[in-house]
Amino acid sequence: MPGHVAIVMDGNGRWAKSRGMPRAAGHEAGIDALRGTVEHSIRRGIRTLTVFVFSSENWQRPDAEVALLIELFVSALNDELDALDKNKVRLSFIGDISVFPEELQASVEHAGSRTSKNNGLNLIIAINYGGRHEIVSACKKLFAALPPGNRGIDDISEERFRDCLDLPDYPDLFIRTGGEVRLSNFLLWQLAYTEMYFTDVYWPDFNTLEYDKALESYVGRQRRFGRTSEQVREK
Ligand code: IPE
Ligand code: MG
Repeated sequence: MPGHVAIVMDGNGRWAKSRGMPRAAGHEAGIDALRGTVEHSIRRGIRTLTVFVFSSENWQRPDAEVALLIELFVSALNDELDALDKNKVRLSFIGDISVFPEELQASVEHAGSRTSKNNGLNLIIAINYGGRHEIVSACKKLFAALPPGNRGIDDISEERFRDCLDLPDYPDLFIRTGGEVRLSNFLLWQLAYTEMYFTDVYWPDFNTLEYDKALESYVGRQRRFGRTSEQVREK
């Protein structure tokens, strides 16, 4: 089983459209799919689940849809918090939340602190997150910590760089629903050696069966990290 799964939950709008429903209905159904995915992650013993809820590019959507996404996020977070806490889920958030309404920031802070001692699934929610921005921020942190002059440059390593990221961890399995085969600025550094799984299934239809298909695909793969398959087998 993968220890860390990262998901781009795409296809809510098209799911709704294919049923003659408004996009909002797709986003609401998407919340149900996320609840099911969290529960199934726990069942399957996944340690960390990172989900892309709102990208730094999603601001370009119509104002009404952005407002709806923010509203749905806050209400879902508040509604689900008891159950998540009871299931020992530890919630954390990556991305810049400072630009969101006070209400959202308060919900995020409350959810994070209330579940901070839980030792079950780590649920990481990416909201107003962008991979390039994260990398540039990590560079700034790294340089700010260097002594004056150019001294210290040689001490910069991949490990130290990683530790300056919002998410200093490497997902084992990446899943994207909704048929598009791209990263869309998600976890650019972290996904370097991640196994990729793409499915045409729209996010609201991503149920336990579909999740198991992705997990099975992962289990059947040999991760070589640049070595030959013979080397990996000998290990
Ligand atoms: C994903 O579904 C949800 C978010 C990006 C917030 P979409 O809204 O992108 O659905 P499609 O791609 O239009 O079908
Ligand atoms: Mg989309």
